[in-house]
Parts: sequence; structure tokens; C-alpha cells
Amino acid sequence: MGIKLSERVNKLAPSATLAVGRKAKELQAKGVKVLNLSVGEPDLPPPEGAKDAVISAVNANLSRYTDSRGTLSLREAICQRTKEDLRLTYSPNQVVVSCGSKHSLYNLFQSLLDPGDEVLIPIPYWTSYPEMVRLAGGVPVFVPAKSGYRVTPEDLEPFITPKTRGLILNSPNNPSGAVYEKEEVSAIADCLLKHKEVIVISDDAYQYFLYDDKNFCSIATFPGMGERTIIVGAASKTYAMTGWRIGWFLGPQELADAVAKLQDQSTSNPASLSQEAARAALSGNQGSVKKMREEFERRRRLLLERLAPVKGLTYCYPAGAFYFFFTHPDIKNSIEFAGRLLEEVQVALVPGIAFGMEGYLRLSYAVSEEVLSEAISRIITCLQKG
Ligand SMILES: Cc1ncc(COP(=O)(O)O)c(C=O)c1O
Repeated sequence: MGIKLSERVNKLAPSATLAVGRKAKELQAKGVKVLNLSVGEPDLPPPEGAKDAVISAVNANLSRYTDSRGTLSLREAICQRTKEDLRLTYSPNQVVVSCGSKHSLYNLFQSLLDPGDEVLIPIPYWTSYPEMVRLAGGVPVFVPAKSGYRVTPEDLEPFITPKTRGLILNSPNNPSGAVYEKEEVSAIADCLLKHKEVIVISDDAYQYFLYDDKNFCSIATFPGMGERTIIVGAASKTYAMTGWRIGWFLGPQELADAVAKLQDQSTSNPASLSQEAARAALSGNQGSVKKMREEFERRRRLLLERLAPVKGLTYCYPAGAFYFFFTHPDIKNSIEFAGRLLEEVQVALVPGIAFGMEGYLRLSYAVSEEVLSEAISRIITCLQKG
């Protein structure tokens, strides 16, 4: 029977990152030893405190619905961590906890956009932004960076129109690993102060993954920007709990209420046990975060050392997150090259076209040093074949 699907879902592009990961897993299930560097998730365990909190919650029968915005104790823990780390004050009513920050972003665009409203998306971008904007009837407007991988006010200005509702800032960036310096964020804040109707969606999924002793800089900390910024936070990467699905919205009260109303009528609260895990992780000792950052910094060093001699390799300096985004004269079509890597040397990477940059590939170094080292050797072999 031919089931008629909605136009909305017919137009939706599949997630390229998930598709590559799925293909790699299919091959692995057939016994092929694939080195999977396509998936953006830490390979380390979540903090012990978070695991204990889940076990205690199970034993205490915390099996009921919670407040649809998330438990008060988790929302308080989010506010407290934000205060400690960013010196920004929010009330628990300005927080809405969802099933991962992906869900927070989805809710946000649904609450913010009317048909034809535009959202500025700097290139390269996380693959889900454009589709989520389109699903809400909005128009993604892609902004290339004239130099490097970070946009400036000069890059943004020509794209701002009376229909522009928001700008997505994602630093550290997926896929490039680029990190905006404080002066660069300040310049963007100054530019947006001239465009009062444009809000910033600050996707801070990787805010704790900065290397070379750099500090995270939030645009919400600049004068006049707090009330115009929505912080989208995530437990997934920071606490290595991607599967437990906890993310949150932090922002102006009226928008928080709108997002909460949408969540009330769609999914209700995220899993109560996951909320307990996130509460414990956010309010407990942050040692595991530091340990993970140090581990990734070591792997990043290995990656840069091993790839330094490769002729023709161009890349974005990986200042944060756990991705390496590179190109090479032999990579003309990124889907084709990623397919070749998988077939010929069994390494899974994500084609750059999924992030708006053809000719590039994204490698995740959130894998063991052993896997990383072997994968680099295989990638070099493939590049040297031409
Ligand atoms: C930039 C960015 N934002 C948001 C997400 C969503 O993460 P989650 O839904 O697990 O919080 C991801 C996941 O890869 C990401 O890379």
C-alpha cells in the first residue's frame, strides 16, 4: 500500500552523520572491522555520581511524570552551574529541560519562527540546523566566513534583512572545531545591537571542550545581549551521556513559557532517570570533565603530529570540540571520498557536504588513541593513492 507522506517529511533531508554511523555499524555487524570516526560522542564513561544517581532513582521508584519543564532540582542545578561558569543569573522558570539539546533546538525554532522568517547559519554548520529551521517554516540563510572558519560582522551584515529572526552561534564548532575569540564575539554583539530584532541562539554543546588553556566566551555576557540570547546547553558531550538525552533551553521568560507550552503538548518531560543523572553530574565534582578534556587534548596532539607531514592537507585549527575538519586536493566530492575510505580502508568519516562545505571531511577524535592512530595511517594511505 502506498502511504501518502506529508510534504513536510518528504522534504526533510536525512541526517548525514547518523547515516554514516549506521552504515559503519552495518558493516561491523557483518564482521568487517570498521574504524568509526564518524560519530560525535565521547567514548568515556559518564561521571560515577551520575551513574549512582540513576541507580538510586530506580530504587526510589522515581518512575512518574515530572514537571514537563524538568524537575526543579535539575533546573536549579543548571542555573547554579551557569552562574558558576558564566556568571550569568537565570531563574529555574527560565529553564526548559528536553530530550537532548537537539530537542531544545527543535522546540525553540517551532516557538520562534513563522513561515518565511530567516535564521542566519554560519558555514560550516551542524547538519541539523537547516532542517530544523525548515521544519518550522523558516528559511535557513547560510553565511560563509570570508577568511577562516569564523564569521565576522562584515560577513553577517549583508545577510541581515527585515525577516531575520536569529543567528546561530556554535563555538566550539561542530564540525570545524573553531572557537570564537572574546574580541570576535564582542564584535558580533556590537553588530547585533544595531539589529534589535535579531536574537542569538548560542549552541553551547561543546563549551567545556576548549584546548590550549582557552576559556569559553558566551555572547550572553556582553552588555545588552543577555535578554536577546538563548543558551542551548547539553549534558550529552560534557558528561559523556549522549544516550541519556538531556539538554536545555535557558533564555527570556516569554520564550521559555512558549517552549514549555510546546513541550507540554508534545513530549512532556524527558526521562526522570536521565534528569537525575544530569542533576548529579551538574552539581557534583567536575573532575571528569577536566579529565576528558585532557584526554581529548592528548589525542588532538597525536592527530596533528601524525598529519603534519601530509602534503596538500588543509584544515581548520581544532581549537575546541573533538572534531578535525580537513580538505585535500584529492577530495573533490566528499560523499564519494567518504565512500572510498569506508570501502577501501574501512574508516568512517562524515562528508563535509553535510555541513555545507564540499571537499571537506569531518573526523571525530573521540575514539581511543589506538583506533585514532590506525585510522590516521589508513587515511594517509588512501590520500597517497590519489
Ligand atoms: C553542535 C551540536 N548541537 C547540538 C547537538 C545535539 O546534542 P544532544 O541532542 O545530544 O544534546 C549536537 C550533537 O552532535 C551538536 O553537535
